[in-house]
Amino acid sequence: MKDTIEAAKNRLGKKLLILGHHYQREEVIVHADLVGDSFQLSRMAAERSVDSESGGELVSGCETIIFCGVHFMAETADILANSPSNLAKRGGRRVDVILPDLLAGCSMADMASYDSVCECWEQLSTVIDISEVVPVTYVNSSAELKAFCGQHGGVSCTSSNAKAVLDWALSRYKRVLFFPDQHLGRNTALKMGISMSEIVDWRSGEQEFGGNDTSAIRGSRILLWDGFCCVHQRFLTGHIDEIRNVIPDVRVIVHPECKQEIVAKADDAGSTAYILKRITESPVGSSWAVGTEGRFVERIAKQNPDKIIVNLAFQPSYCSTMGLITLENLAAMFQPIEDGKPINVIKVDTKIAENALIALQRMLEIS
Ligand code: 13P
Ligand code: SF4
Repeated sequence: MKDTIEAAKNRLGKKLLILGHHYQREEVIVHADLVGDSFQLSRMAAERSVDSESGGELVSGCETIIFCGVHFMAETADILANSPSNLAKRGGRRVDVILPDLLAGCSMADMASYDSVCECWEQLSTVIDISEVVPVTYVNSSAELKAFCGQHGGVSCTSSNAKAVLDWALSRYKRVLFFPDQHLGRNTALKMGISMSEIVDWRSGEQEFGGNDTSAIRGSRILLWDGFCCVHQRFLTGHIDEIRNVIPDVRVIVHPECKQEIVAKADDAGSTAYILKRITESPVGSSWAVGTEGRFVERIAKQNPDKIIVNLAFQPSYCSTMGLITLENLAAMFQPIEDGKPINVIKVDTKIAENALIALQRMLEIS
């Protein structure tokens, strides 16, 4: 299968771009042309789908992107690669974005539906001036919710620019409605010096006002949806105590999707790209316990054999949906592409894409 993939890649040449997220399986990631976190991959989809200049040479844009990641990432790539300005540069030709397994979703993204966020917005507008609220969606969300943000003056963010985005939002509006990840929202707000009393949890299962009394909502600066990532909830404060006993000079670094008490107890916290950079640039012989997705931790360890790098939870915590992309389903994408009949193409509705693009372009501008 490896040979089949490489032979097809050679035949397709620059027409095909394979993007791979850091949480992908090792046997898949070796075939990716570009590897990154969700912010970097969004940017690559936007830029590499059109002709560009590099070192005085013309680099031709791709015709097809195979996205080795999860559904919201492929949607984001479709919206950015096929933006009106990119379409105009290609004379109207679309770039197909392919997700090798259509079941590769994100359970956190599924925790905020478009209807439930609209219902929340309606309820908020009965107790506060809604023109003072700006919706901010973590990129781990449906295209419909990005469109909702685009339509209401809002923005998307990733874990790598969440603080800059919240700074942007709170310098323009009195309050933020942040979804779906409560932990990224809470950890970022606390880092900005916002007090716990100004951070209000919106419990989406509750009938009225997210289970809050209206005075709490009036006193809020950040309203947090109650979504979470199950992969990052596996890390416990007890793991930090235990690892510090076993490796006394260890540095604990975690992703901001972890609970607040984990981030508070760790030595450092940051996005996927930040974790990679911190560890890669640390001195030879350093020891790290890493609280994030297991395949990514294993890859950092492999790339840094001169350091001690362990999973914070001892047992790795794998993202099962990222793991749905396999060598088999990746290999199965090539023949249909070569036959001119690609399968598993992710195409966002034009109207939704138009509004979602507003939120995504703001996200790419704020870094
Ligand atoms: P990044 O934004 O760091 O790539 O993370 C995406 C994700 O799904 C984390 O769980
Ligand atoms: Fe979603 Fe968590 Fe998997 Fe990231 S690690 S894709 S947030 S389920």
